[in-house]
Amino acid sequence: MASTGFDNLAQAAFASSEAIFTINSPSSHPSRAIDRLSDKYTISNTSPAVTTLQANADPFQKIQESAATNKELTSVLATSDSLLAAIPHLFKTASQRSAVVVHVETKERDSDNSTTQHINGSAASTKSTGAGHNGVVPSYADLMAVRQTGFAVLTSDNAQAAFDLALVAQAAAVQTSTPFLNAVNSAAAGASGKKIVLDHQRVAPALISELDLAAHRERQSAVSEISLSSLYLKPQEGEAAADSAAPTAASTEEVYNKVEELLAVLQKQTGRSYRPIEYQGPANAKTVFVSLAIGSSSLDHALKAHHAKDVGLIKIHLYRPWSERHFLQALPTSVERVIVFEQSPAAHTAWTPLFLDVSASFHATSADDKAAWAGKVPKILSARFRGSGADVTDADVKAALTSEHAKPTFIINPHFVAQPVSSASPLQESDVDTPYIQMLNQVFQDRLNIENGLKTDSVWGSANQSPEFGYGSLVTKVAARARFAELVSKTVQDSNLKIAEPLRKALTQWHLNRSDSKLAKRHGDEAIALLQEAKDGLVGSLAEISTQSSQFAKPSHWLIGADAWAFDIANSGVHHVISSNADINLLILDTEPYTARTQNPENRKKDIGLYAMNYGSVFVASVAVYSSYSQVLHALIEADQYQGPSIVLAYLPHPDEENVSPITVLKETKLAVDTGYWPLYRWNPALEEKGEEPFRLDSERIKLDLQQFLERENHLSLIIQQNPDVARTLTHSIESEAKARDVALKKKAKDDFAKLMGGLGGPPVLILFGSDGSNAEGLAKRLVKGAKLRNLSARYSAMDDVSIEDLTLEKHVIFVVSTAGQGEFPVNAREFWKALSAATELGVSETKFAVFGLGDSHYWPREEDAIFYNRPSKELNAKLIELGAQPLIDLGLGNDQDADAFETAWAVWEPLLWTSLGCKPLEGVAEEPKKSADDAMKIDSNYLRGTIAEGLLDDTTGQLRAEADTKLTKFHGIYQQDDRDLREERKKQGLEKAFSFMVRVRVPGGVATPAQWLAMDSISDVTANGTLKLTTRQAFQFHGVLKRNLKKNIQLINKSLLDTIAACGDVNRNIMCNPNPHQSDLHKQVNDFATDLSAHLLPKTSAYREIWLDQKLVKGEAVVDHEPLYGPTYLPRKFKIVVAVPPNNDVDVYAHDLGFIAITNKDGSLAGFNVTVGGGMGMTHGNKKTYPRVADVIGFVTTEQAIETGEKVMLVQRDFGDRMNRKHARLKYTIDDRGIEWFKTELQSRLPFPIQEARPFKFLDNADRYGWTQGQDKMWHYCCYIENGRVKDTPAEPHKTGLREIAKIHNGEFRLTPNQHLIIANVKASEKAHIQSLLEQYKLDKLNYTGAMLNSMACVAFPTCSLAMAESERYLPSLVQLLESTIEEVGLRDDAITIRMTGCPNGCARPYVAEIAFVGKAFGAYNVYLGGGHHGQRLNKLYKESLTEPEIVAELTPMIRRYAAERLDGEHFGDFVIRVGIIKATLSGKTFHDLS
Ligand SMILES: Cc1cc2nc3c(=O)[nH]c(=O)nc-3n(C[C@H](O)[C@H](O)[C@H](O)COP(=O)(O)O)c2cc1C
Ligand code: SF4
Repeated sequence: MASTGFDNLAQAAFASSEAIFTINSPSSHPSRAIDRLSDKYTISNTSPAVTTLQANADPFQKIQESAATNKELTSVLATSDSLLAAIPHLFKTASQRSAVVVHVETKERDSDNSTTQHINGSAASTKSTGAGHNGVVPSYADLMAVRQTGFAVLTSDNAQAAFDLALVAQAAAVQTSTPFLNAVNSAAAGASGKKIVLDHQRVAPALISELDLAAHRERQSAVSEISLSSLYLKPQEGEAAADSAAPTAASTEEVYNKVEELLAVLQKQTGRSYRPIEYQGPANAKTVFVSLAIGSSSLDHALKAHHAKDVGLIKIHLYRPWSERHFLQALPTSVERVIVFEQSPAAHTAWTPLFLDVSASFHATSADDKAAWAGKVPKILSARFRGSGADVTDADVKAALTSEHAKPTFIINPHFVAQPVSSASPLQESDVDTPYIQMLNQVFQDRLNIENGLKTDSVWGSANQSPEFGYGSLVTKVAARARFAELVSKTVQDSNLKIAEPLRKALTQWHLNRSDSKLAKRHGDEAIALLQEAKDGLVGSLAEISTQSSQFAKPSHWLIGADAWAFDIANSGVHHVISSNADINLLILDTEPYTARTQNPENRKKDIGLYAMNYGSVFVASVAVYSSYSQVLHALIEADQYQGPSIVLAYLPHPDEENVSPITVLKETKLAVDTGYWPLYRWNPALEEKGEEPFRLDSERIKLDLQQFLERENHLSLIIQQNPDVARTLTHSIESEAKARDVALKKKAKDDFAKLMGGLGGPPVLILFGSDGSNAEGLAKRLVKGAKLRNLSARYSAMDDVSIEDLTLEKHVIFVVSTAGQGEFPVNAREFWKALSAATELGVSETKFAVFGLGDSHYWPREEDAIFYNRPSKELNAKLIELGAQPLIDLGLGNDQDADAFETAWAVWEPLLWTSLGCKPLEGVAEEPKKSADDAMKIDSNYLRGTIAEGLLDDTTGQLRAEADTKLTKFHGIYQQDDRDLREERKKQGLEKAFSFMVRVRVPGGVATPAQWLAMDSISDVTANGTLKLTTRQAFQFHGVLKRNLKKNIQLINKSLLDTIAACGDVNRNIMCNPNPHQSDLHKQVNDFATDLSAHLLPKTSAYREIWLDQKLVKGEAVVDHEPLYGPTYLPRKFKIVVAVPPNNDVDVYAHDLGFIAITNKDGSLAGFNVTVGGGMGMTHGNKKTYPRVADVIGFVTTEQAIETGEKVMLVQRDFGDRMNRKHARLKYTIDDRGIEWFKTELQSRLPFPIQEARPFKFLDNADRYGWTQGQDKMWHYCCYIENGRVKDTPAEPHKTGLREIAKIHNGEFRLTPNQHLIIANVKASEKAHIQSLLEQYKLDKLNYTGAMLNSMACVAFPTCSLAMAESERYLPSLVQLLESTIEEVGLRDDAITIRMTGCPNGCARPYVAEIAFVGKAFGAYNVYLGGGHHGQRLNKLYKESLTEPEIVAELTPMIRRYAAERLDGEHFGDFVIRVGIIKATLSGKTFHDLS
């Protein structure tokens, strides 16, 4: 029979061991190699005992037991596919320090289906042919998987080396009492054809002496007998595990030095030279490849062939233990680039093992080694091959050396993938697990024990700590505590032992409650104190208990794993944990982004959650920190409490790109959770035991397989019974909904059509729109009305809701399409355009059409961007003509730059359209209703009722019933929104938009009690998205309130004695005021005025209480409402009032319709107010008729006259404001249209007292005062910095929890500032320290931001604001950070520069009075405005349009430098840019758009 790779290994084994095990499988028979042996030299002069084991009979358990009992030098001959199942036994073998050497030949595996093969123990036996041949490749994955078991690992690249290292392995195993694994590639081992020198007779005795054997035996006797059967099964139940008595393992240095020493002996004997880590190449190499010796031969060959002068190769013979020091010593310090060459059968793992070892070496070495490298880290690349390594060609290596690596990942050939990693600090790049580790630290604090992460920042950063490693040692720790419990139990029951009664009681209580972390601590602490007292008198087991007192506390044991485990659950640590039944928690991170999820069904991740739930007694949770912080928190706590294995699957998408932004991570998370790809749930078997439902769904949708599991287990029906509201989304899995989509859409179109048809004649017209905002859609609706008036039947829909084939059936199709992005189709027209633009033929010759486009010829201002103007409509028109459709009339082009924006062109185009359809001009019929449509809607609404109540009852949709209702709800403080991050994905899946509601709470003056704060906090968790927004107008806002939670939300708010009425809508809104009435008596009087005025101007309709609070005022009768101030049409537009207290203009008095500036008497008491009118921020890009305006000061009124004055200003606007054009309806336009003098006269005519001359006052700034301040009455106030007003918990800054804790003990108030921050007001001196400690604990004390950051403010924008064109709240902090380095460098750290950002020109964060403002134009592009007044008194002006982030930084950096160098004393940035001519001052709203 032919010789195989095992023959030489068998020879070596025979020569150097006392017992040999061969592991046979159907495809591999190492026992035959033993049978063939002729040379009988053996180390002990007796033939070793040979045992043949079968691969499928857990052979390593027998080997481990035998080595433990007999303590013989043991050799094993096996193929690598038997290693994975052996992991627990390998750990054991290593911990008992047996001198076992496992000789493995790497096995070929089908890379797509390794698990099955392994389980069946029947790996394919095809000859190694390299990769790409039906996916069968020799796999080193098995070898890598056992690298942390405590075995030393040697690898070789040819048969001679394998033989030589086999002898060295055995000698090193004996001399260090460390088990070894000696691995060789099957191809290299057997088939090299080279003659092997088998000189073991001479070499073996030189390597291993009798003395070595004796010394090893002595060390072995220190290892006591162990109870083997129980160790991995139920350690927590008390069976002892004696492995903890094992002597500590040999150190890395010890093993490394020993191997090096033995190799030197070998060389002396044979002349054959090896080094544990072997460098080949020039001493000044610039590039060095690093490879395990196994699999390196082709690389070696290719490098030699390439003749590169400055390229070297490191071959690793001794891979474990990994010596960072020796690795660095082997590497020439001239190296600039290290290419780690490694097999990677799966493309999913972010980093491969050797790459991690190499990278970590640069971070974790001693000071000496660091000095040698002078802190420089070469660029480290990961070059992966998918085959055996044997088929890497010379060309591949050449390509690797010459490539510029422009992209993060590129493939040189299908088997060779290089992945460069940032040279500076490759591992710290990833903070994928940081948020979860921070949470674990926060929740469990001292009890936390992360076994394989050791509380490091990153689990990846600690390459030597893998889950497999951690598992073994965790089991040991669990067992040790169990033994301690046993000791305690025996001690308290020992009647011969004298124990003081209190101690016995404490110990007994502890024993009973040792699994409960709190009680274990309490009774443990008692026991420790008592033991301490009796310290000297302790005897026997009590003394032993005392020395082990650290075991009293119940640790929270965690292992952290990666999503790569999901490809092979059975062989990863997951399976071990589940089957151990031990009280161990496993946190498994999944970093695969939703948008890059693996679609290949052949190579799918297994669902670990389902796998574990099927197991039964395992706690399982699926969480996502960027979706729900509190759900993660609950899951971690429950996992810890669960007495048994827990698995927490944690999502943290990490897109494969440099500088991943938090927004990307957030969006990926939302997509994953919303689509049901990553459902949030908890499965707690402990609840089932209590008769409760074990499954709790924490998100809305689930994926199909989970649904099937729940159906099978009957839990689904229970969930639906308990929560009928979620039934609809829950039971509609993604798949079934996608199928239903077409049917539903067709039906909807048909229904709409039938409705519209009602009795109409004439040619049918199909009106299709593409619209991102509402302009194009609005025109489409107007066309439908126009068609009705002309007796035409018409129907309309978004372009994407029809297929292009539908065009062939139509006679007349009218398109109204706007322009989005940069010359792109709006989102609801993209699919349609994709199909149409690809079509080469379409039967539309009978179809007549017309296109009206909406665009803005100045949206992208550079000349070369003119192509983007109205591009979609132009392209659509041309394509339809190309396909043979017949134009009814020429393309119409609406332009925002025209006098009346798109209306200008529409007015010409629309009549032509009707004529082309054969309609005569209408006679006697009004084309457009003269009455304002909005007024009509208000009148029809019956004092703001509409059909809101009916809409709330409809559970088939997440939105309100009618468009009018969405406007009416604003008067109730509610905005219907949809999550824009999810729009496209939901559309793809045929789902309606992700509707939810924003609810704004009216908080006059921004004052809330601690009880109200607690209520808001809890309402946000129970009915909204878990966060609380403090707004720019001193209100609370809840986001993400689902329709089914809306009523509950409003009721809870009212229960807390706050409400939402008139928080939005065409009424007076929340009245703002300087937030701190305790600062002085004056502030208090002002605040009282604000509250009174707010109450005075409230709408009086009872609709609010009727709809939301179920309070019908007049039982049994129709309610007749009356609005004494507003009348049935309310105001033309929103109306905003503020009250300022100089010198602080924090409320931005000039930015509001009506303002009151407090004026004092000489004694400091309140005399009255200067009145300001006509401020306002909103405008529309490109529409010069819209502009921001700062208010005029019109005079002074006394305190007693102020409420009446406020009322009358509002009534002038009620009567004269423009009700026809909402874009022109604010008070600022009423005043500018008629003149300020007219306004004063009109106002005066309504007042019984004269308005006096304005009195002098002085503002200094419009910012908040942070930190502690003391009021006149000696009470303290602390103003916290809340980034953009968003109160939330993050693992690093758990602000929301912190404020909740403060609210629980605080006796004063919470005050919302106009800049979205928060004052903990009215703190007694005696309570200040306590509050301060909580502020510190929850990171609310952090105020060391730059002046720029402290004075920055952003609106909400994406994802909820429907008007947002660009990010704002989620983006501003990172933009400011980019500017901060310059700000700090030039010494402006503490200088306040007001910076504001909004996602659209509407101006919610009052950008136009900021010194620097960014106003969203399109995704990632902002208009930059400069020159606003430092205290909000002057408008800024457009500096440059549509700048991207790098452009913004490039523009502002030199400007900030110049400001630092050239500013005058006390000169503010806004004034400076005007003085030096960077920007022209804006002197009035009307000239805001004048740039020259
Ligand atoms: C984010 C954004 C990007 C735009 N890009 C363009 C453009 O590239 N070319 C253009 O002609 N108009 C552009 N416009 C102008 C719009 O097409 C125009 O305002 C139109 O009236 C909007 O209609 P809609 O509300 O139906 O979407 C853009 C508008 C926005 C908000
Ligand atoms: S400024 Fe625009 S984007 Fe920002 S919240 Fe207001 S409307 Fe939305």
